[in-house]
Amino acid sequence: MRTLRTKVAVVGAGPAGLYLSHELRTHGVESVLVEWCSREHVERRVRAGLLEEGTVRLLRGSGLAGRLNRQGLVHDGFQLRFENTSQRISTVSLIGEPTYIYGQQEVVKDLLSARPPDDGSLYFDARDVQIVGITGNNPSVAFTVGGEQVVVEADFIAGCDGYHGVSRASIPAASLAFHSRRYPFDWIGLLVSAAPFASELVYSVHPRGFALASMRTPEVSRLYLQTDARDEQSNWPHERIWDELGQRLYLDESRTWERGAILEQVRVPLRATVAEPMQFGRLFLVGDAAHIFPPTAAKGLNVALEDASVLAHALIGWFRRGEVGPLEGYSATRLRAVWRAQDFSAWLTWLFHPVADATQFDHRRRIASLTRLAEAGSSAVAFADEYVGRSRRRPPSLSYIHELDGMEA
Ligand code: FAD
Ligand code: PHB
Repeated sequence: MRTLRTKVAVVGAGPAGLYLSHELRTHGVESVLVEWCSREHVERRVRAGLLEEGTVRLLRGSGLAGRLNRQGLVHDGFQLRFENTSQRISTVSLIGEPTYIYGQQEVVKDLLSARPPDDGSLYFDARDVQIVGITGNNPSVAFTVGGEQVVVEADFIAGCDGYHGVSRASIPAASLAFHSRRYPFDWIGLLVSAAPFASELVYSVHPRGFALASMRTPEVSRLYLQTDARDEQSNWPHERIWDELGQRLYLDESRTWERGAILEQVRVPLRATVAEPMQFGRLFLVGDAAHIFPPTAAKGLNVALEDASVLAHALIGWFRRGEVGPLEGYSATRLRAVWRAQDFSAWLTWLFHPVADATQFDHRRRIASLTRLAEAGSSAVAFADEYVGRSRRRPPSLSYIHELDGMEA
């Protein structure tokens, strides 16, 4: 058995774990990162694609954006289609901020290549990962790698191991509230070897269901299609998916639709979860380990990196300057941002996805809401603020006069 000692043990080498350990190292705080998949798998996993301005700023500030600056696609806005019309919503015109298209696996590759090679601080292919002693001052992460048992003792543990990881499960159920909502629809997601459908993203709301034409590069498209959560995958042969995409994107039949080879197909269940609090003893939950967003508003990766940044700076404050406040405030600070993003994601999800038993009343109301967004008034400004994530970066401005308890009528 090998025992190592470090300041922060990080579980999970997704974007959150890699970014956290990068920031810690840059500021002289050592960490050890433990991941159960292989490096090749982590680098190839296709998931998010839309980065908010705040995320791009974080990556630039950490010296990680060389390739992102060269290869990332800057989008001033997107198209919103409904009722056979296409409206352009420009977040740059509305609030002066674009969004960026750059694959999550590219962010992961950039983070991995910024690490010094083989410095012994990163373990892939770890088996039987366990978190021990989080209520004491010396928590540890135990695992086996290549048949050898390894124990990493640390001052703190950062649980960055996603929705299915061990971190959240290490917190006693009585000390954790787990809120969740399963939406009655899924997405079928395609990665396609074909030029993007349009130069910007196209969100399309059709009575048959929602469709999104996104992209990863000028040669690779990412397409999504709403399906009923109960619908069997076998009901969706490729031919039907393409036909349905054409109809839902209001494609003129005369227009050629470059279908391209399907490189990957996934089924994404739409769900939201939040674990509260995001800290228990010496364990901090970060990113998808603490919260999942339905992908509609593209918040997951952006909020995960924001969590990682806030926690990194709280830990750096603790180790370098003995600051307690930011670490103690991590959970409350992040939950405020998480619920804000959940609220927007839920609102957008219901707006964009017609349900099977929708009435004409529901349909007309949906069109009225979409029209309001397309009119570039105050609703569109508020929408853009949430969509690009700027609202989460503003300090809270609520001022409580006094608690309701005992308040005069
Ligand atoms: P993960 O990426 O899940 O990383 C967790 C890591 O922990 C993984 O490497 C995993 O292998 C590892 N791990 C798990 N268990 C263990 C264990 N027991 N021991 C050790 N390691 C473990 N978000 C956006 O912001 N924009 C988008 O456009 C967007 N689009 C999306 C589209 C789809 C189809 C999907 C599915 C998601 C999308 N998201 C999007 C969400 C985004 O991909 C996630 O929120 C993001 O991956 C969260 O990063 P993370 O590091 O917290 O978790
Ligand atoms: C994606 O490209 O994966 C993507 C883009 C925008 C979204 C959701 C997903 O709103």
